[in-house]
Amino acid sequence: MLKFVLLLIYLNLVLGDIECPPNYLLFEDGLCYQFLSEAAVHKIPGQHKCESEGGNLPKISGILQNAIVTNISLNATDVTWLGLTCSRDDTCIWDDGTKMNYSNFDSGLADVSQGNCVFINILPAKRGKWSSADCASDLKDVICQTNQKSLQPNITCPDTYIKGSDDRCYLSPNFKLEFNNAENLCSETASNSHLTSISSREENNATQLISQAAHFTDIFIGLEAGSKGYVWIDGTQFNYPYSYSNFEDGQPNIKVGNCVAMNVTTGKWKSICCNQKTSFVCLQKC
Ligand SMILES: *[C@@H]1O[C@H](CO)[C@@H](O)[C@H](O)[C@H]1NC(C)=O
Ligand SMILES: *[C@@H]1O[C@H](CO)[C@@H](O)[C@H](O)[C@H]1NC(C)=O
Ligand SMILES: *[C@@H]1O[C@H](CO)[C@@H](O)[C@H](O)[C@H]1NC(C)=O
Ligand SMILES: *[C@@H]1O[C@H](CO)[C@@H](O)[C@H](O)[C@H]1NC(C)=O
Ligand SMILES: *[C@@H]1O[C@H](CO)[C@@H](O)[C@H](O)[C@H]1NC(C)=O
Ligand SMILES: *[C@@H]1O[C@H](CO)[C@@H](O)[C@H](O)[C@H]1NC(C)=O
Repeated sequence: MLKFVLLLIYLNLVLGDIECPPNYLLFEDGLCYQFLSEAAVHKIPGQHKCESEGGNLPKISGILQNAIVTNISLNATDVTWLGLTCSRDDTCIWDDGTKMNYSNFDSGLADVSQGNCVFINILPAKRGKWSSADCASDLKDVICQTNQKSLQPNITCPDTYIKGSDDRCYLSPNFKLEFNNAENLCSETASNSHLTSISSREENNATQLISQAAHFTDIFIGLEAGSKGYVWIDGTQFNYPYSYSNFEDGQPNIKVGNCVAMNVTTGKWKSICCNQKTSFVCLQKC
């Protein structure tokens, strides 16, 4: 208990200068949570609901976090989804692509015979324990989790880069290149610059706005299908179809090509041949 109190004091000190996005509350694990009631939902629409609020379904990395999510879930009338997917009873992956290193399954392990998705229980006998379910089960309420925002000093972008509506630094070179050449050009213009990665609606919006301002119609984004499936070329985690993505209906279609383009009018993504010379946007990460 003393440890817990000290942790709270410590967190209050280090968390002094941060704030949560609108509608979120800050909890003791330093993350922000929002409870959405009557959101409806199968697992994937639940995740989309959270993304539209700038968050994700909860990821739980330890006992304290499990207690926090359990506590929030008591606001629900029913069990709520976690951002976890299991392909076998002992193989579960969080929606951000990281491996599960803490778990609290009711029966010790996931039970994929019940389904690949996971919810957290609220009934007293199983409170805080996790259970497997079909991803198409209808759960009523959704808990979203997100990182707090630091009240950082203004970000300054490298020369020729401009700040997007998401505070990231973008460059929109005024010519078309094949995917590999576009990526090379990005990496030559600034350190840590790559074809843009996109992991939220806000970032998709910002990339779209930058591209519209440059009068592009289609742009390569830094997403490419390889032997291990889709990866962001700048190393951002991606776990298709659970991570944020914004494909048009019927896409991706790998037969068309391994690269991905955004239609700048709609902001939607589609497969494209990597050798097709296309406009592109570079993203510099600090
Ligand atoms: C849960 O409900 C309580 C009581 O209505 C409220 O104070 C609390 O903020 C709610 N938690 C979240 C995360 O919304
Ligand atoms: C699990 O990994 C996260 C980082 O991804 C770490 O913060 C956390 O402490 C780890 N939890 C356990 C129980 O090892
Ligand atoms: C859980 O909720 C109770 C009552 O709202 C509160 O006293 C307790 O500190 C909460 N625990 C955690 C870990 O948030
Ligand atoms: C950040 O820049 C904006 C516009 O340039 C300015 O209005 C604002 O005061 C700056 N904020 C900080 C913390 O420097
Ligand atoms: C996306 O951009 C439009 C303006 O083009 C804005 O109205 C909307 O709120 C933005 N959405 C998000 C999630 O940032
Ligand atoms: C982008 O989408 C719009 C609306 O579906 C379509 O009219 C347009 O042709 C598309 N642009 C390109 C370059 O494919």
